[in-house]
Amino acid sequence: MNKTRLCTVISLAFLMSACDTGPESPRGFSLPVGDAARGEMVFQEFNCKSCHAVKGKEGNTESDAEVPIVLGGKVSRVKTYAELVTSVINPSHRLAKGYPEEMVQEGGQSKMPNFNSVMTVAQLADLVAFLQPHYELQPYEPTYYPSFY
Ligand code: HEC
Repeated sequence: MNKTRLCTVISLAFLMSACDTGPESPRGFSLPVGDAARGEMVFQEFNCKSCHAVKGKEGNTESDAEVPIVLGGKVSRVKTYAELVTSVINPSHRLAKGYPEEMVQEGGQSKMPNFNSVMTVAQLADLVAFLQPHYELQPYEPTYYPSFY
């Protein structure tokens, strides 16, 4: 590797790490802690199971889809809590991998409906609390709120 290239690589690495802490970074993002049992009810209420199955979950949340998109397990796309939340509120941000293209997207947009105008933030927090343990995600630290005097 010549010097110029090495320098480019180093500055790129620096820029990328700078993004981790810059104003655009997801650092500091935290929903309030949700309730998984209520989240399972939200999952049913919004009929998520018409397209999805939840890994390790049968019964009430068993999917009605012929080829369900499985939520949970070890997936390449959703790696963190923030990504899981994003995939619900902004599905086109990153599309699920490992399915035929026509099944997940149309013209680059996710086929998943947008629930943002009908789902409350409390329902979202509960939903994610229900889904999260089914994913093998990097550990998530909820914000610690110390007492203020
Ligand atoms: C009409 C079908 C449909 C419904 C209903 C639906 N989704 Fe989806 N969902 C999709 C499709 C298609 C994808 C794959 C494309 C993508 O990643 O956005 C997806 C992707 C996802 C992902 C990311 C999957 C991954 O592991 O990468 C999550 C999480 C998710 N949906 C959650 C939900 C939840 C929660 C509900 C109910 C509130 C729901 N979906 C309702 C079609 C649907």
